[in-house]
Amino acid sequence: MAKLNAAVLSLCVVMALAFLAGQSAAGRYYPDKVQDKVRNEVEKAIARDRSIGPALVRLVFHDCWINGCDGSVLLDKTPTDGTNTEKKALNNIGLAGFEVIDTIKQKVGAGASCADIVAFAARDAADILSSGKIFYTIPGGRKDGVVSSAAVADANLPESTFDFGQLQNNFDARGFTVEELVVLSGAHSIGVAHLSSYQDRLGGADSTPIDPDYQAALNKVTPPSLLQKGQNPTVHNNARDETAEFQKDAAYNPVAMGVNPARIVLDNSYYPNNLVNKVLFKSDWVLRTDGFAASKLEEYKNNATEWNSDFADAMVKLSTLPAQGKNFEIRKNCRVTNQQNYY
Ligand code: HEM
Ligand SMILES: *[C@@H]1O[C@H](CO)[C@@H](O)[C@H](O)[C@H]1NC(C)=O
Repeated sequence: MAKLNAAVLSLCVVMALAFLAGQSAAGRYYPDKVQDKVRNEVEKAIARDRSIGPALVRLVFHDCWINGCDGSVLLDKTPTDGTNTEKKALNNIGLAGFEVIDTIKQKVGAGASCADIVAFAARDAADILSSGKIFYTIPGGRKDGVVSSAAVADANLPESTFDFGQLQNNFDARGFTVEELVVLSGAHSIGVAHLSSYQDRLGGADSTPIDPDYQAALNKVTPPSLLQKGQNPTVHNNARDETAEFQKDAAYNPVAMGVNPARIVLDNSYYPNNLVNKVLFKSDWVLRTDGFAASKLEEYKNNATEWNSDFADAMVKLSTLPAQGKNFEIRKNCRVTNQQNYY
């Protein structure tokens, strides 16, 4: 009997592996209509414009970090906050992907909360951008909140100029460890940032250690003087995703770094980049200033499999942060609350 069980078990394992191997990143099948619809729309959106993927991964972080996962980041207007909602927070600069969420909401209707859509969409984006290497399951059942404050978001989202202690405290306040801080920061292997978010790194006494070639390349494509002219252009968070000219200026050769040169791929390339001071934000670099965090940077550089798996686990934890508040609903439109008043 034990033998038979073992045989059945190993057959199941083989079948499961074959099933997973047979799955292309695009076209993962969920035994759940809502998740299938989310998947479909996320695939279409990323196929149209790959930069939507990073936007969706960031969106779940910024939603769940403020009052838990409650879709509050999507609101344009609420009864208590007026139009001064989280989207207006300075720390939410560049936040995107709202149109995709709206499209998904139109497809699923009352079948899912906006908070669920954000969580599922981020999950699918991570899966697609990692070619299936980062995949996790998360439950549905989140409810949409009716409060969304720009001031609260600015007071609680971590900032690119934070030092290590500030990052540690910010993550600790939500039950996230230093290890999870290091793991989740690896999301900066994808996406873009505005000049105002890294201008502190481009020169002067305050610029935290940054590779001089990389710094020069950044200064060339986005001179900080542009800010005085009212311009705030973006660069890619990852030198890997930049032009050949930028990479030459930055003395950044992905292959020599042991980095897969394919663009906009969610992988562990953040770690080798960080260890040679070629990451964009101060908040990235400061992970090197803590002994334990630095040892984790080294570990994730050397072990992509471990990072993929730890990143997936941390995303599950992030996507299940409980919503806080008094009034909840399934929003009809992700941008506004269902009622004008809540008692
Ligand atoms: C550890 C603290 C963190 C800080 C200080 C931070 C800060 C930032 C900043 C300043 C930007 C650029 C915004 C802009 O200028 O447009 C950014 C982009 C981004 N962040 Fe973070 N972040 C942190 C953690 C995270 C986490 C935990 C995730 C997700 C798991 C994440 C995912 C992203 C992504 C994907 C982008 C690019 C978005 C896009 O291209 O649309 N970040 N982050
Ligand atoms: C990478 O990490 C995994 C999971 O933590 C572990 O099982 C494996 O032994 C590690 N590989 C190496 C080469 O260290």
